[in-house]
Amino acid sequence: MRIRTVVFPVAGLGTRFLPATKVLPKEMLPLIDRPLIQYAVDEALDAGCDTLVFVTNRYKHAIADYFDKAYELENKLEAAGKHELLSLIRDILPEGVRAIFVTQPEALGLGHAVLCAKPVVGNQPFAIMLADDMIWNRGPGALRQMIEIAERDHASVIAVEDVPREHTNRYGIVSSEPIDDRLSRVRGLVEKPKPDQAPSTLGVVGRYVLDGSIFEHLETTQVGSGGEIQLTDGIASLMRNKPVLAYRFKGRRFDCGNRLGMVQATVHLALEDAELHAPVVELMRERLSRE
Ligand code: UTP
Repeated sequence: MRIRTVVFPVAGLGTRFLPATKVLPKEMLPLIDRPLIQYAVDEALDAGCDTLVFVTNRYKHAIADYFDKAYELENKLEAAGKHELLSLIRDILPEGVRAIFVTQPEALGLGHAVLCAKPVVGNQPFAIMLADDMIWNRGPGALRQMIEIAERDHASVIAVEDVPREHTNRYGIVSSEPIDDRLSRVRGLVEKPKPDQAPSTLGVVGRYVLDGSIFEHLETTQVGSGGEIQLTDGIASLMRNKPVLAYRFKGRRFDCGNRLGMVQATVHLALEDAELHAPVVELMRERLSRE
């Protein structure tokens, strides 16, 4: 079965970016000139997804507005002959791609946010993307790599990367049996373990391709770490009936949910940009010479 539906949970409070996130959803913060959510959507489109489900809350109208048509702006750009800018805003979502918005009434955790998408997703396998994990890759995007494996092996696939042991308490951590150098079979999953209690240093990051039965597991998942309903706990339950693979994706992840990650991603993208590369290198040279 082709996996074409992706859920974007965007109903978190974004407290690490206050005060900016008092009025602006975290996912609308820009990396250079595009909001975080656009990088995630582009990765989903690259993976062949055509149904985008956004789990939002009542403060996040900006995300729905961003994906809506902006008639007045389009008319003005058209009249002014600004065709490049026009296609920039028209191509935010190409023809044939559906954006669906569902509400998470209260921020009860990532697992709960995903469960809110159940009426739209149904019982089919689907993807979940957390836009604050921006994954850059020159070749196929991380989600495309994962969907290919999920379709080939008829399994759920979660993205992992090696994290420093002192940071295990920031991630879901897997214990797994290796299949090859990138793929392993998940045997256990624990949310934010202390470094001395972590079963490994393989941390789950914000890309998942899951069997549709995850919803049944989330429905019975109790409140866990941080007083929230954790997706990790739902996957740990799913794993008892269905195969779950951990995949070390090709690409570089930036955790744009915190300030340092946002700066790292911005500098990285600037250095990859033909127009920005030289002036940014110049600025850094000049600034570092004074350190
Ligand atoms: P985070 O743990 O990054 O939380 O959520 P947050 O609220 O967005 O940000 P901080 O920690 O307060 O700064 C991980 C992902 O899960 C979504 C978030 O939008 C983010 O994409 N999420 C989290 C929800 O959609 N609903 C929730 O109840 C919790």
